[in-house]
Amino acid sequence: MNEKVKFGIVGVGSRGLHAFGRMICDRQDAEVVAMCDTNRIRMEAGAARLKITPNFYGAITDMVKHEKLDAVVITTPDFYHEQCAVEALEAGVNVLIDKPLATSVKGCRHIIATAEKTGKTVMIGFNLRHNAVLKKLKKIVSEGTLGKVFLIENREFYDGGRTYMSRWNRSYEFCGGLWIHKGSHDFDVFQWLLDFPKPVKVSSFAGINVLDDKHIPFEQEPGKKPGPTCHECPYRETCPDRYDITDEMDRWGDEAAKLDGYRKDLCMYLSDKTVHDNGIAMVEYDNGARASHMECFITPISDRRYTVVGELGQAEASLTDRIVTVRPRWSKEVVTYQIPDERGGHGGADPNLLDTFIKVITGVLPNTSTTLHGMMSTAVGQAAELSRRENRTVFIEELFRD
Ligand SMILES: NC(=O)c1ccc[n+]([C@@H]2O[C@H](COP(=O)([O-])OP(=O)(O)OC[C@H]3O[C@@H](n4cnc5c(N)ncnc54)[C@H](O)[C@@H]3O)[C@@H](O)[C@H]2O)c1
Repeated sequence: MNEKVKFGIVGVGSRGLHAFGRMICDRQDAEVVAMCDTNRIRMEAGAARLKITPNFYGAITDMVKHEKLDAVVITTPDFYHEQCAVEALEAGVNVLIDKPLATSVKGCRHIIATAEKTGKTVMIGFNLRHNAVLKKLKKIVSEGTLGKVFLIENREFYDGGRTYMSRWNRSYEFCGGLWIHKGSHDFDVFQWLLDFPKPVKVSSFAGINVLDDKHIPFEQEPGKKPGPTCHECPYRETCPDRYDITDEMDRWGDEAAKLDGYRKDLCMYLSDKTVHDNGIAMVEYDNGARASHMECFITPISDRRYTVVGELGQAEASLTDRIVTVRPRWSKEVVTYQIPDERGGHGGADPNLLDTFIKVITGVLPNTSTTLHGMMSTAVGQAAELSRRENRTVFIEELFRD
């Protein structure tokens, strides 16, 4: 291990730059020495924004071959996580991989086998576990205040149509579907709160109700077509859903798009998509507990809410309101905790996650966000995707058959 932890960032997009790049640069004990992105313009503009001069690579193979890295942060589109993680591990480098671990159980098993072979650390970017509101909820559950927990309900309302349907997340091919891309956060929280029972079966319903060409939210003039991107759209001043990327045109503008065709602001109504814009998934675990997860990307608010029910009471948490409420089963004495705001992305969760990773690879803390946990949340997401496509309940064991 170097005196300062030497990081390589793989995928210098939103998370790679604005979350991990910035957070590493803010620390005294770590530095970004290398960046890897298939789009050189985006990578160079990202480094300039961070005011750093790392070495640049177009492929992780070259980066891990030429650099002496302590760790890589993998923030590519989800589909590339598997290949990038395997290459880093094979080269003897520790890995912090943003969720999900991979887009299929098969991909997760490949990473797990490689990690076991090389003995290197893989930690998953399940940042919700590092959010103070959910840490309080976990503490309440762990202390037994609710008794044995048997039911969890969660809803993820995300005013995220703009960012989700305007780029790669809208393609099953790149993200494995939104049950994996987005739901894997919540499926992990369920397992974490329940102390890691095995998920047994999953059912889901999901589809597109709003984000299609029939729901464009403005009157169109004859001969004046909307799209294809927000910054090119003739209705951009009036569309209530425009996604403004103008302050990032150095990274997401025409020059960068010439290299890979990647647009970040495709019209979310006209873009072709293979994921849902809302849905409900239900999971049953081998300890008898059940959970339901609702996700919707067309809401006026962004909030994650959880209700956890145990034999002795229930607790509710809102990440946006930063409130946790505990209601004992046989008493009206409701206890409410207002959780102070924390600095940093996702309510302070992102810097806590990075700090934990550095402590894990320097031997200060054990890794509690393991590849096995990553695989089980991907498994639930994959089963939910299969369930909605094939209109049936999916047993998790199906996904593990060779
Ligand atoms: N934990 C969270 O809260 C959270 C939030 C958002 C996104 N994410 C995850 O972060 C990751 C990145 O998402 P994003 O929104 O920053 O994406 P992004 O599209 O903004 O950036 C991805 C970058 O990866 C580059 N890239 C593509 N293929 C590559 C490859 N094979 N090798 C190297 N670079 C490659 C692209 O050129 C792009 O610059 C995803 O896995 C996503 O699921 C996590």
